[in-house]
Amino acid sequence: MGWLQNTSVLVTGGGSGMGRAIVERFVEEGARVAVLDRSADKLADIAEQFGDTVRTVQGDVTSTADNAAAVDTAVGAFGGLDVFIGNAGVWDFAQSLLDSSPEDLAKGFDELFAVNVKGYLLGARASAEALRTSRGSMVFTLSNASFFPGGGGPLYTASKHAGTGLVKQLAFELSPEIRVNGVAPGGMATDLRGPGSLGLSDTKITDALPLRELMINHSALQREITAQDYAGTYVLLASRRNSASVTGTVFDISSFGTPRRPGP
Ligand SMILES: NC(=O)c1ccc[n+]([C@@H]2O[C@H](COP(=O)([O-])OP(=O)(O)OC[C@H]3O[C@@H](n4cnc5c(N)ncnc54)[C@H](O)[C@@H]3O)[C@@H](O)[C@H]2O)c1
Repeated sequence: MGWLQNTSVLVTGGGSGMGRAIVERFVEEGARVAVLDRSADKLADIAEQFGDTVRTVQGDVTSTADNAAAVDTAVGAFGGLDVFIGNAGVWDFAQSLLDSSPEDLAKGFDELFAVNVKGYLLGARASAEALRTSRGSMVFTLSNASFFPGGGGPLYTASKHAGTGLVKQLAFELSPEIRVNGVAPGGMATDLRGPGSLGLSDTKITDALPLRELMINHSALQREITAQDYAGTYVLLASRRNSASVTGTVFDISSFGTPRRPGP
């Protein structure tokens, strides 16, 4: 018997990477999952793998209507909503303040904050009523960049710090009915892209960074960590039984906060 038996869940950006690992692990734990993603190809792949256990909605997290459609899909298919997971995000490819033109900073801010922050806000708004009814919870994917500098440029780091503020404020406002928490993974080899307005929508994080080597050399755990490794913390926070007292907190599971022990 899984930890999330018959739990109804909506995940944004479930098409690949962290979101896809959440979908796979949640289904394994007994949940029924709806996915909102902008990629039709990734959604078709999910539909083929999971059949009716997972419902897919193609849309953009920056759209009020698409968030509402995703919530309606989960509620209609599964009879309610227990967990909303805001996860879809884009990266800024660590473009520093001084290496960015003022024009790029302005365009990049509007697009990156629209996905990473407004997307979370609109998803929270769309799902709040259903979660109040079920006394459910929200979980947001944050990052090592929610705690530390250097995990991106100023746009990404500011957006992920904003995510921490959102968790704290929503946990306060939506209490006592809805728990709200964040999960902050570290680097992982995914399909993570950048803002189209900066010409980065076809570039992946793995094209720019040797993530495996970075993890081995900088994480205290001295090995590559995958999205599957991080997924268990989402299960824990989504579980009413196992996280009954947890709200307004961000779990730093990046392992970057602990310095790497010098090797022999
Ligand atoms: N990869 C890393 O190193 C890393 C580290 C820490 C945190 N994160 C965070 O993990 C989360 C997931 O990213 P990932 O690394 O799995 O990347 P990913 O690109 O593999 O997954 C993101 C998914 O979101 C979808 N998406 C992007 N923008 C969207 C939009 N506007 N509307 C709907 N869907 C959209 C994409 O199609 C994709 O399926 C992000 O919030 C990211 O900031 C990633």
